[in-house]
Amino acid sequence: KRLILIGPPGSGKGTQSPIIKDEYCLCHLATGDMLRAAVAAKTPLGIKAKEAMDKGELVSDDLVVGIIDEAMKKPSCQKGFILDGFPRTKVQAEKLDEMLQRQGTKIDKVLNFAIDDAILEERITGRWIHPSSGRTYHTKFAPPKVPGVDDVSGEPLIQRKDDTAEVLKARLEAFHRQTEPVIDYYSKKSVVADLHAEKPPKEVTTEVQKVLSS
Ligand code: AP5
Ligand code: ZN
Repeated sequence: KRLILIGPPGSGKGTQSPIIKDEYCLCHLATGDMLRAAVAAKTPLGIKAKEAMDKGELVSDDLVVGIIDEAMKKPSCQKGFILDGFPRTKVQAEKLDEMLQRQGTKIDKVLNFAIDDAILEERITGRWIHPSSGRTYHTKFAPPKVPGVDDVSGEPLIQRKDDTAEVLKARLEAFHRQTEPVIDYYSKKSVVADLHAEKPPKEVTTEVQKVLSS
């Protein structure tokens, strides 16, 4: 399966991704995760991306299209993939179509994590992450067994630099202005499935499974 996950910050894309990935043996490509790794490693790409990310603005289309183009060549991504956080602009969606056309494939489903903005601040400001595995926790909705510590590895959890109420406002604005048109773009191709992303994580998983098995 070739899937795209679209939704505002905190809508649950990163939470559902590992579950879908394991169930369908797909590769998981999250542009946000890849960019954060580049920033942490201070690569030329990371240095270029950091300023926009800290402000909650989108990184340039050329940079992210380059990352995805490279990542999709991996053998593990040939049978199917989950794109989490990409495409986020109409230009990115068009570039992705070109890439897939060259391979003679296309997107099977776009999962639209539909949710009201009002819920997102609490989700974003309570999020804690285990950077090396990508495991995500929430102080209220998905607390770790020991506060601040990853359940599996025992390593410390961190908060993302852009997970403040203030930066969230800019991220939401970017979502409504630049990414919502991408949902329309795929609606016209009749591949969008709307999810009730405000429901508890397990119920969202059940909705995803229904969509993917239909
Ligand atoms: P990115 O990393 O993609 O961030 P985002 O889109 O803002 O999405 P989040 O990761 O914040 O949300 P999520 O939906 O994954 O939420 P999660 O599941 O963790 O991008 C970061 C930045 O990189 C961008 O601002 C931009 O600068 C740049 N960038 C990335 N891609 C780009 C692109 N294509 N083009 C240009 N720039 C790009 O859940 C959040 C919290 O809620 C967690 O604590 C979780 O435990 C909890 N939670 C999850 N689901 C539920 C639920 N159902 N009920 C209750 N709590 C829940
Ligand atoms: Zn995410």
